[in-house]
Amino acid sequence: MACILKRVPIVAVSSVTIFFFLIVLRLLNEASFLKLLSCFGQKTFGCVPMSDIQRRPLTYHDGYINVKTHEPLQLDCGLCAIVSNSGQMIGQKVGDEIDQYSCIWRMNNAPTKGYTEDVGKRTTVRVVSHTSVPLLLKDPKYFFKEANNTIYVIWGPFRNMRDDGKGIIYNMLKRTAESYRSAKIYITTELRMKHCDHMFKEETGRDRVQSGSYLSTGWFTLILAMDACYGIHVYGMINDTYCKTDGFRKVPYHYYEPGRYECDEYFLHENAPYGGHRFITEKRVFAKWAKQRNITFTHPEWTLS
Ligand SMILES: *[C@@H]1O[C@H](CO)[C@@H](O)[C@H](O)[C@H]1NC(C)=O
Ligand SMILES: *[C@@H]1O[C@H](CO)[C@@H](O)[C@H](O)[C@H]1NC(C)=O
Ligand SMILES: *[C@@H]1O[C@H](CO)[C@@H](O)[C@H](O)[C@H]1NC(C)=O
Repeated sequence: MACILKRVPIVAVSSVTIFFFLIVLRLLNEASFLKLLSCFGQKTFGCVPMSDIQRRPLTYHDGYINVKTHEPLQLDCGLCAIVSNSGQMIGQKVGDEIDQYSCIWRMNNAPTKGYTEDVGKRTTVRVVSHTSVPLLLKDPKYFFKEANNTIYVIWGPFRNMRDDGKGIIYNMLKRTAESYRSAKIYITTELRMKHCDHMFKEETGRDRVQSGSYLSTGWFTLILAMDACYGIHVYGMINDTYCKTDGFRKVPYHYYEPGRYECDEYFLHENAPYGGHRFITEKRVFAKWAKQRNITFTHPEWTLS
């Protein structure tokens, strides 16, 4: 009995201590939470959240598997250059600058041959839409033999990418990997596709499927590059207000295809009730990511204040 009585104060004291400890912890959390909020939109070093300072690029990427070996993508870049397919690249003469980066990312079938002065000649990763795979297969010797240092990452919906013999794009890729033994071809897993949709919903509040749109290859490219790179320099991508800016440069939609104009395509897609890419909405999200991570946009320049 006496023994129990003596213990009561100890229990009480430690409960009180724990209680205060928890309160202090809560306050500290709130403080760092508020600090984060106040930092939002500022780009000073002190305001970078810890998680970003300590961020290291991932080496293995489970969301992308080799069509031949079924192994996950192994990719660990230093500083990356992402080269847009936009007509903005015409006449920029940044090819040599781009070729200095440790990883150079391109999209779909964007050529280098004939355009190297503006866009560079090296390609480390090519992110390709399922709809662009047939375009690569028009010139398989170039893409899968000559350019065998390039890693191909293909994204697409389950119906085209399923590996049970019924996915037409998957089947094309598998045959290609068998014919061109040195080709490095990866597909985006269904789970990863869902993750990319989820990020769209998280950032825009809109459901990608319900809003009747498709994510762009740029979206998939940036998501993988943010995992694989220390820093990203995006060349030739326009921001969300570019097409409403006085005196904007009227350029082709693709630097390698005359005819269609960039801003016409952007408005067409943004307002299409079904089947469009929400390019302008995506650019607003990219600007937000760029503030939180080490991403810069030039040619034309984005000011991220
Ligand atoms: C890989 O690419 C290099 C350079 O283009 C080429 O010389 C070589 O033959 C290719 N290797 C194979 C196995 O296709
Ligand atoms: C951010 O990326 C740029 C290149 O885009 C690089 O020069 C710089 O060192 C990087 N900074 C940090 C803090 O990683
Ligand atoms: C967007 O681009 C336009 C045209 O280049 C430029 O005037 C404007 O400052 C840019 N806005 C941001 C937020 O980068």
